[in-house]
Amino acid sequence: MLIELGSLSATRRHQYLQYAVAPRPICFASTINAKGEVNLSPFSFFNMFSSTPPILIFSPSRRVRDNTVKHTLENVLEVPEVVINIVDYSMVQQVSLASCEYGKGVDEFMKAGFTPEPASRIQPPMVKESKIRMECKVQEVKPLGAEGGAGNLVICEVLCMHIADEILDQGGMIDQRKLKHVARLGGDWYCAIDESTLFEVEKPNTHTGIGVDALPASIRLSPVLTGNHLGQLGNVSDVPHIDPGFQDERLTQIILYYSITPEEMDKVLHHYAAELLAKGKVREAWQVLLAQA
Ligand SMILES: Cc1cc2nc3c(=O)[nH]c(=O)nc-3n(C[C@H](O)[C@H](O)[C@H](O)COP(=O)(O)O)c2cc1C
Repeated sequence: MLIELGSLSATRRHQYLQYAVAPRPICFASTINAKGEVNLSPFSFFNMFSSTPPILIFSPSRRVRDNTVKHTLENVLEVPEVVINIVDYSMVQQVSLASCEYGKGVDEFMKAGFTPEPASRIQPPMVKESKIRMECKVQEVKPLGAEGGAGNLVICEVLCMHIADEILDQGGMIDQRKLKHVARLGGDWYCAIDESTLFEVEKPNTHTGIGVDALPASIRLSPVLTGNHLGQLGNVSDVPHIDPGFQDERLTQIILYYSITPEEMDKVLHHYAAELLAKGKVREAWQVLLAQA
């Protein structure tokens, strides 16, 4: 299906984009107006865009329904400060509650049951329950349009971060396994990060991978190996050679058993290599594949 975005209603366009560009981290923004009234609302049009200077951007949109603007936007235009609180699984239902369209001046800390805590350098309070709070100065607000659905980029410079000790590792860094990050997808869908969904992909920027195009055709065109497998195999610096010291009981068995049916043997070796790759054992997988006929 090919979709021309201009032919869609604003609501449909929003849905397709929201389902496609996912998961998105959630900025739980605490702001204040000139009268000192506090507002707290979630925004998943949010990300980091620079670390030096440290810049985060989130976007309160004009409402599609009636083209009105959100209190958060009005507040940062009056008082250009915001605390960006990071959302984890333990708070997600209350965060969703805070997104209700309460009247102007209603404090969502109260409505959603969060505890305000004074920030150290800016006026809006932090959310005590959030394990990472970032105090920010708003550098610029950039409207992206004047119609309903138009975003407003709130460009924020992070002045300081508050991080709960319980999510730090021994070296004082954030331990990705200790914070159950939550992210927003399309519609009512969310996802939560925990040890069962986390995985690592080795950074290729410490060396240059040979690339999928440099893999021997028998590997590159394998009916067994997937794109992910080829990506792992293509991330070595040089095509490996057979290592005479490589000992593997299962490999020995496969070679003995399938020596009279080489085609069958290749398939079995590819399946075995796939198993090794799933465990991150790239060197071993290469040795298994080099044993093919
Ligand atoms: C998880 C989540 C993410 C949201 N992300 C956005 C967003 O990126 N932009 C937006 O305009 N509204 C977003 N909303 C809706 C706003 O939170 C909602 O309109 C809120 O009432 C705005 O509050 P305010 O008028 O007090 O600023 C989101 C809601 C939820 C629950």
